[in-house]
Amino acid sequence: MIDWFVEEDTPETEERREKFVLEKIKDGQQLWGLADAPKEYKDLLFFTLDKQYRCEERGGINYFEAVHLAPTAEEKENFRRVARQELRHGDIIADLIRAHYGKRVELAETVKEEKNILDVFRHPDDFDSWEDVIVFNILMDLAADIRLDRFKKGSFGPWTKAIEEIEAEEKGHVEHGIRWFRILTQTDEGKQRIQEAVSLWLPRVLRTFGNLDDQSKSLPIYQKYGFLDSNDAQREQFMEFPVGEGETIVSLLENMKIQIPSVCFEEFPHLQKYRYLVD
Ligand SMILES: [Fe+2]
Ligand SMILES: [Fe+2]
Repeated sequence: MIDWFVEEDTPETEERREKFVLEKIKDGQQLWGLADAPKEYKDLLFFTLDKQYRCEERGGINYFEAVHLAPTAEEKENFRRVARQELRHGDIIADLIRAHYGKRVELAETVKEEKNILDVFRHPDDFDSWEDVIVFNILMDLAADIRLDRFKKGSFGPWTKAIEEIEAEEKGHVEHGIRWFRILTQTDEGKQRIQEAVSLWLPRVLRTFGNLDDQSKSLPIYQKYGFLDSNDAQREQFMEFPVGEGETIVSLLENMKIQIPSVCFEEFPHLQKYRYLVD
């Protein structure tokens, strides 16, 4: 590259870049490269892609570690395929980062050392039963799908394309979870273990949508660059999202008389309308 051609990062050029990007977003257009994007945009996008990379990869590794809990040999093989798909999602995001930031991202030695990862992926040791795995599978794969679907409508075209590649498989993962949910809730003992798993995993999954809108420091920047509208609205969307045969998370819990732990309502007052699902 010719040195004199590179524009220096002065406050004026940053301001000009910011204006350029915001005008594009206002016109409903997407960016296909980062050369004209302000540092704030590049940093936000990198932070988000890096986090998605780590969550996909760690999600896959955690699933591999949980394979032994699957009740049949056939299901072990089936769930290994789900785990492999998560690793492939991570690879797609790693390629995207390499193409646009010119750097490789790598996982830390252990999940405890990962700095930029959702907390829900830090607890593979909490998979004690197949019910734990299935409840995590339904809730977290659905939460990821909802979050990614909004990011897909965001302002960075190459990321939109990457999400299109990933999302059909995420929907397949949710269907896998629902199928098993129906089997596991057929007995009282199974239902009891599902209840324990929901009490453990639902609050953690609801937290993945971020802080409450009026307390979130990062939400205004995501909104500014067209990636998110509202964490609170996404949490509600998650509860009511169709997950096959007219079911939603709320109706699945309701029909099986599974209760929502009250900590969810303490942390997320906008979910109070589901309070009837508590004894
Ligand atoms: Fe994934
Ligand atoms: Fe998934």
